[in-house]
Amino acid sequence: MDEPRQRLRFDHVSVSYGTPDGGIEVVRDISFTIRQGEFVSLVGPSGCGKTTIMNMAAGFVVPSSGSLMLDDRPIVGPGSNRGVMFQEYGVFPWLTVEQNIAFGLKLGANRKPAAERQAIVTRYLDLMRLSEFRRAYPKTLSGGMRQRLALARAYAVNPDLLLMDEPFGALDAQTRSAMHDLLLDILCVEGKTVLLITHSVEEAIYLSNRVVVISARPSRIRQIIDIPFPYPRHSALQEEPEFNALRAQIHELVMREYAAQEAQRRPPV
Ligand SMILES: Nc1ncnc2c1ncn2[C@@H]1O[C@H](COP(=O)(O)OP(=O)(O)O)[C@@H](O)[C@H]1O
Ligand SMILES: [Mg+2]
Repeated sequence: MDEPRQRLRFDHVSVSYGTPDGGIEVVRDISFTIRQGEFVSLVGPSGCGKTTIMNMAAGFVVPSSGSLMLDDRPIVGPGSNRGVMFQEYGVFPWLTVEQNIAFGLKLGANRKPAAERQAIVTRYLDLMRLSEFRRAYPKTLSGGMRQRLALARAYAVNPDLLLMDEPFGALDAQTRSAMHDLLLDILCVEGKTVLLITHSVEEAIYLSNRVVVISARPSRIRQIIDIPFPYPRHSALQEEPEFNALRAQIHELVMREYAAQEAQRRPPV
């Protein structure tokens, strides 16, 4: 059987930012590929450069060197084929729940006729269990509901590549677990390609085909770990010995990088 086609391809990508006191090297020589339908997570210490990597895929940051391709074309800017979920909730406070979901469907390449727009909004209201709150404003929603709304917005425009930057970080454990299963359900139905950034080793293993461990700054790839569990997955998986072994292995790698990142932060004595 043919391998699924390559979607996103980082090839020896490096990034430095210019700063008043010289420059800061944030990403160093990263190469990895995400294929159609794959779910890949990046884990690594805060400040190591993960959001920078995602911003390149989104088209907001340009590599200083190396190449970054989507579907064999260089990424030169943002595009309607990518749905981005940022660390902060990606919802507009001045729009209602249904207006938030419809927002992207009124713009540019994703513009849809009113009837179709309404059908999509209704479908996601239902899927995210937000129908009762369709006319509510985000400030009246719980954190979990706002997160579901952000997910609905990102999904409504039907991007085939989803870029998610710590989307579940602010949620309590129960809501987070419910969001994981909701995401897996949707992915089973819709077959998206996903790049997820997360602090949580468990989340990365539970959701992904592959977990990429990123080093302390500058971001380098420490290890790429294949996650062998078939989909659909269920939360009981997290009690399995094989899951625990992977968790221990990846945790150790990540903790080493956290320590290295901390050492950078401490002023020299
Ligand atoms: N536009 C920028 N200009 C200068 N430095 C930046 C910029 N964006 C991020 N940085 C720095 O790059 C490093 C990595 O940031 P980021 O990619 O947000 O890491 P992470 O998401 O892993 O926490 C941090 O030290 C941050 O301060
Ligand atoms: Mg970040």
